[in-house]
Amino acid sequence: MNALSSLTSSEVTQGHIPVMLPEVLEYLRPAEGERILDCTFGGGGYSSAILKSADCNVWAIDRDPDAIARGQALSHSFPAANGESRLHMLQGSFGNMQELARAADIATFDGIVLDLGVSSFQLDEAERGFSFRMEGPLDMRMEKSGPSAADIVNKAPEAELADIFHFYGEERHARRLARAVVNARAETPFHTTTQLAELVRSVIPKDRSGIDSATRAFQGLRIAVNDELGEIERGLEQALDMLAPGGRLVVVSFHSLEDRIAKRMVQHATGKDKSFSRYDPRAAATPAPEADFVALTHKARRPSDIECSHNPRARSARLRAVMKRALSPASVKKG
Ligand SMILES: C[S@@+](CC[C@H](N)C(=O)[O-])C[C@H]1O[C@@H](n2cnc3c(N)ncnc32)[C@H](O)[C@@H]1O
Repeated sequence: MNALSSLTSSEVTQGHIPVMLPEVLEYLRPAEGERILDCTFGGGGYSSAILKSADCNVWAIDRDPDAIARGQALSHSFPAANGESRLHMLQGSFGNMQELARAADIATFDGIVLDLGVSSFQLDEAERGFSFRMEGPLDMRMEKSGPSAADIVNKAPEAELADIFHFYGEERHARRLARAVVNARAETPFHTTTQLAELVRSVIPKDRSGIDSATRAFQGLRIAVNDELGEIERGLEQALDMLAPGGRLVVVSFHSLEDRIAKRMVQHATGKDKSFSRYDPRAAATPAPEADFVALTHKARRPSDIECSHNPRARSARLRAVMKRALSPASVKKG
């Protein structure tokens, strides 16, 4: 029995306020008897709401062992008629979701949701090293294993660091910052979040937005440490594959790099990523085959002003959703 196992469902989830929850439920539409996959359990905010909204089963993935422990503590709150739980925890990465589902003997889901990035539990715990606002080890590993942010900062060649800051952090001064990191680490290796944040602030001037100049460097490192963009690419591809006919896929992203992949997934799934322009005569001559998916959101949905005022973390959220077409009688016959 761990320390979390006596907590109630609201105590387990209260460290993280779920973002765009009403919209997630609106597109996911969980129904009785359905199988839903929550790829990012976090504090269990989505999983709990899904399980409360319908008599369905939720399989929940997280790569963070702390999140899995929270889920195990929560599972007793959702008993099934057979005495087992309707919440099933799967530890691992959603980039591997097909394998995780297969190991649980499941091939398809009626709904799949991804709420990208880190949870407030991770951000607010100094020991995890995600936040430049708190002194902690320069870690940032969601999985608590593998190379840490300090390993990258202290060992990566200058050009690789510059690429991380540039491509993942979208930092305009990436090269200058990488050079400064390499010079500084030759004197003293980086061990803590504040050590790196102070160096970034000394190299990159604050811009007019007032955003801390360490924000982008920390974003870049976090993405690199956890291969976050690779995970999203792999995860979304598998999610499309694992949806049952009529199944819904919902993605909530928090910055433009994540949202770009989600947007491309919607275009690809709905057959809108033609390689030639719609002004090309070939486009009119070739009738597009009916895509297997329909877009549920044509533009990304944004959180309401009220939500943003209660939860500043929601401000950058974007939600996109698609649905797999139900099999038509004609396609079943052909099939
Ligand atoms: C934003 S939080 C999810 C919050 C959750 N929706 C809630 O309402 O409590 C993101 C969670 O996803 C997990 N995560 C991020 N990337 C992951 C990946 N590639 N595989 C599995 N879990 C991941 C993180 O560890 C974190 O716990």
